[in-house]
Amino acid sequence: MKVLIINGSPAGENSITLQTALFIEKHFSQDSFDVIHAAQKIRSYQKDFSGCAEKLKEADLLLFCYPVYTFLAPAQLHQFISLIKENNIDLSGRYAAQITTSKHFYDVTAHTWLQQMCTDMQLRFIGGLSADMEDLLAEKGQQDALSFWNYVHFAAEKGIVKEITAVQKKELYAASPCAPLTQKSLRRVVIVADLADDTDGLLLSMIRRLQNRMNANTEVADISTFPFQGGCLGCFRCAASGKCFYTDGFADWLRSTIQTADAVVYAYTIKDHSMGMQFKLFDDRQFCNGHRTVMMGKPVGYLVSGNLSQEENLKVLMHARAQVGGNYPAGIACNETQPDKAIDDLADVLDYALKENLQQPADFYGVGGMKIFRDLIYQMQGMMREDHRFYKRHGFYDFPQKHKGRIMAMYLVGAMMSSQKLQNKAAGKMTEGMIMPYKMIIDKAGKKR
Ligand SMILES: Cc1cc2nc3c(=O)[nH]c(=O)nc-3n(C[C@H](O)[C@H](O)[C@H](O)COP(=O)(O)O)c2cc1C
Repeated sequence: MKVLIINGSPAGENSITLQTALFIEKHFSQDSFDVIHAAQKIRSYQKDFSGCAEKLKEADLLLFCYPVYTFLAPAQLHQFISLIKENNIDLSGRYAAQITTSKHFYDVTAHTWLQQMCTDMQLRFIGGLSADMEDLLAEKGQQDALSFWNYVHFAAEKGIVKEITAVQKKELYAASPCAPLTQKSLRRVVIVADLADDTDGLLLSMIRRLQNRMNANTEVADISTFPFQGGCLGCFRCAASGKCFYTDGFADWLRSTIQTADAVVYAYTIKDHSMGMQFKLFDDRQFCNGHRTVMMGKPVGYLVSGNLSQEENLKVLMHARAQVGGNYPAGIACNETQPDKAIDDLADVLDYALKENLQQPADFYGVGGMKIFRDLIYQMQGMMREDHRFYKRHGFYDFPQKHKGRIMAMYLVGAMMSSQKLQNKAAGKMTEGMIMPYKMIIDKAGKKR
């Protein structure tokens, strides 16, 4: 099988993910492997795609190898796949598979996204390997990589592929104008938008309505006009100091314009099953902020132009981002149907959330995500110093061993339960015991009233 590795890591040859593919190559001499360093050389491929086009057409299987970057793939890989689409390279019928390395923080959304992109390119998608960045260093990880490749062979021989339904484009609507409120509160809401992709002006109509409706000072930060020097390189130079290697002023702009807002609304047109390439660049470059949830407690909303009802992965991503960021999810207004009511609702909920300082406990997406970060930052505290300080300050290190009293109590219960005699005695009393502290809270609450 002729395999073309699409290396989506900005680290190029030094990519950790690429090592898994190279390891597989060593064990499968019957396959021939070639590599395109898609992310690292994106600038030159944007100028001339002909060499890549030839390689793509010759391959039997495209193997996308990339690190998970902020819930998805690096912006540079996104750009490379867009080039394949723009150049109308016919890849229909060829096989595709993916290998990622990460800390498993939202590797699922990244994998689904890549699969969706493969479906757009009419590739026959076999499956993926989601490895921890250290997996290949242990025998189990090496075995997993080889088993994965054996499966790729098996599936290709049998023609077993994973199907995703393609998105059907449906009509979208503009929002109607509405009169602005004459008096506004002092609160400041930033609408982070990508207006370059808003070729039909629908997104702008939604933004204008939200701005007029809100009882807050709103301003639009159009990321399509920000002079980004490039995508995040994953160089980790920012890890200790919080300072990015680029000199385009993004980190300062982020901190002074967006992170100082009382609430943020993200406004975008759906493209490539995502918020678009420019937003991906924007998200990746926020790595200069490490894993610090500096906007926690602030409400977040979304204005979306596009067929969101068919983009489950994108919905999960928006929800999960708010959850992990510790933001109150004020809502999503989309223009698949006339959006006026949804925009007004979003504006009203944002105003209400700001006024009442509305908070919600995190769900699985938030709690699970933060546990991964907690363990990661604790281990990497020597290097990720800013993150470590932040996590200590905010009590994010909630390791189980700190609940010593509860652990001891559970040993006691466990010992009691192992005795049949005591079990018979306590029959039915277990739930009564568990509910006791709650009852005390209810009793106290009653007394207050
Ligand atoms: C900008 C940036 C964003 C990242 N986002 C994620 C993420 O969302 N989830 C995750 O588990 N790891 C994330 N990581 C960690 C990388 O996925 C991990 O370090 C990967 O193994 C790097 O592979 P590479 O050497 O092939 O580039 C991120 C790293 C960087 C630099």
